[in-house]
Amino acid sequence: MNGPISSAVLPLLRCPRCAGVLEGDSTLGCSACGVRYPLVDGMPWLLPAPDLALAEWRGRLHAMTTHLKRQAALYRAALRPDVTRPTTRNRLKLLAMACSDHARRLQALLAPLEAEPAAAATYAALAPVVAAAQGLASYYPNVHRDWVWGEEENQAALAAVRRALGSVRPERLLVLGCGAGRLPYDLHAILRPAATVAVDINPLLMAVARRMYAAERVDLYEFPIAPRDLASHALLRTLTAPAPAEPGLHLVFGDAKQPPFAPGSFDTVVTPWLVDVVDTELESLAAIVNSLLAPGGHWVCTGTLFFQQADPERAYSTEEVQEIVAGAGFESPRLQSSRQPYLASPASRHARVEEVVTFAVCKQHEAELPLRPMPSWLADPRHPVPLLPEVADHALALRVRSYVASLVDGRRSMSDIAAKLVAERLLPPAEATGIVRDYLLRLHDEAQLRTGT
Ligand SMILES: C[S@@+](CC[C@H](N)C(=O)[O-])C[C@H]1O[C@@H](n2cnc3c(N)ncnc32)[C@H](O)[C@@H]1O
Repeated sequence: MNGPISSAVLPLLRCPRCAGVLEGDSTLGCSACGVRYPLVDGMPWLLPAPDLALAEWRGRLHAMTTHLKRQAALYRAALRPDVTRPTTRNRLKLLAMACSDHARRLQALLAPLEAEPAAAATYAALAPVVAAAQGLASYYPNVHRDWVWGEEENQAALAAVRRALGSVRPERLLVLGCGAGRLPYDLHAILRPAATVAVDINPLLMAVARRMYAAERVDLYEFPIAPRDLASHALLRTLTAPAPAEPGLHLVFGDAKQPPFAPGSFDTVVTPWLVDVVDTELESLAAIVNSLLAPGGHWVCTGTLFFQQADPERAYSTEEVQEIVAGAGFESPRLQSSRQPYLASPASRHARVEEVVTFAVCKQHEAELPLRPMPSWLADPRHPVPLLPEVADHALALRVRSYVASLVDGRRSMSDIAAKLVAERLLPPAEATGIVRDYLLRLHDEAQLRTGT
């Protein structure tokens, strides 16, 4: 290691914005566009728009801990004197204590993110860079599966990738969307490549992975979906790795849509349970994976290929996936299926069995990468920014939103708010109340979703 960034990894890294060479060792700067990328929790933070991404995740952490503290208060409030059943009181006490303690533990674990965040709405109103579906706790059950009770699942995931790889022996391995980090840890220990780089965007999962690789112990609560008994409603679990990670295993924050690596850096790329959750179309992701691979390199894709995209064109069938992969410079994939347990916590009555599909394909030729041309006013910060129609529309939308928000004062009803909008000629009388209701309902739903993740 040279400083915090390994000298084995530094030559592979590139600016996720402009693909310029990165320099430095404690923070990285792009030699081409000048953007600086910090280390967060000791790991290179190579997300495009690094400051905004950091602010967004910080806002999410703040929202999550605030939610947990509110939950704790709700459980405490439910402990009224007339609630006399001892088991009920014990459950409420357990949950109140666990929610407060969990908030404290998350704050400690993610202290490198902490700073006083601006209101989440400010980040949301500015260009959000982290996909809305990617919450801090979106894949939280993975931490316990990876490092507490998931031996059978972890072994099944490892076996599926090894089976697909066959006799291929990776030397430079990339795991994109590594989650809490167990699969790259196992692959690195068993296949012994010279370097394995594990990449994710989620700071909570990466914080856990980093500590596991260093053989540190982390205590975090599990809140099973369907607890088996009273004590299982909140269980403080100790996360540990079987042994420290073998040398050569590295963690890098990065976005699979704009991965921070030089083309051809890897001979093997693994995407475990990623292609159907990432917020880009499979055609782009396949071309990106192709570009990361050296000629003759291999892409291993594993998961359930369950595309839930709102756009019906992108909710692909297995056959379409095969065609898209073959169209991105790879051989045509042959799928291997295996039935695997999925998130089967011993503390929960709820568990799934999934039919997991895995394929390994060899890169046959380069694929065309989707072009992202940069207009001069974005490339040069001194250039005047043109008032484009989309910017004007956005500005108008923000003014309308801010006006509606200013009308909510704790006294006005929906009809009062609608009447104001009608008076300002912003909405026709027949529609106004219905639209105001839909808008407030959406805000309410979004707030519920945010607190759930
Ligand atoms: C379904 S989880 C799978 C996690 C892990 N591979 C596993 O099998 O346990 C999807 C993972 O992809 C990550 N992810 C989602 N969008 C991403 C993106 N644009 N770039 C990198 N990682 C992403 C999530 O943070 C999450 O860790």
